[in-house]
Amino acid sequence: MNIISVLTTDHRNVDDLFKRFEKAAADDTAELGRVRDLILEQLAIHAEIEEQTLYPALREAATDDVLEALEEHHAVKAILAELEKMPPNAERFRAKMQVVIENVRHHVEEEEGDGGLFEVARQTLKTPELEAMAEQAEQLRKVGPTRPHPFASDQPPFNVILGLPMAVLDRAVSTARKVVEKTLLRKAS
Ligand SMILES: [Fe+2]
Ligand SMILES: [Fe+2]
Repeated sequence: MNIISVLTTDHRNVDDLFKRFEKAAADDTAELGRVRDLILEQLAIHAEIEEQTLYPALREAATDDVLEALEEHHAVKAILAELEKMPPNAERFRAKMQVVIENVRHHVEEEEGDGGLFEVARQTLKTPELEAMAEQAEQLRKVGPTRPHPFASDQPPFNVILGLPMAVLDRAVSTARKVVEKTLLRKAS
């Protein structure tokens, strides 16, 4: 397993969630909220993996592309942070998520496309390095952030140093949210 296939699989998984969101009925607020939570979680951890593994490794070889990718992550995290607080029945909820979906699809095309960061990685990094990053990704999946943090550091060393305590808090918040949702659903049924 190497980091490119790990990240590409993430891209497909998150796009499946996007399709599920787009298919949900406008008045199915339970489903819209559930899918929103899954998108928040998956994009948070995916961005963290890229920001701690591939992006720093390509910082020299593709400086402008890495800087643009970091800005695109930042913009998406900022909208996701708004969506996290917004009730799914709010007038602009679906429109806001649609902007996230369009931005992420564009970003993914740039990462995977001709001359994109994944191609630069294949050309400039060695196989053991790409495989070590895949292992690092699996570790980060267990301890990384699960919520958007648009104003946290996204580059080493501060994302590594400050990321861990933030991720612990995230997991507490995510668990609490799931408990509240389950209780509400039980009450509703
Ligand atoms: Fe990215
Ligand atoms: Fe990505």
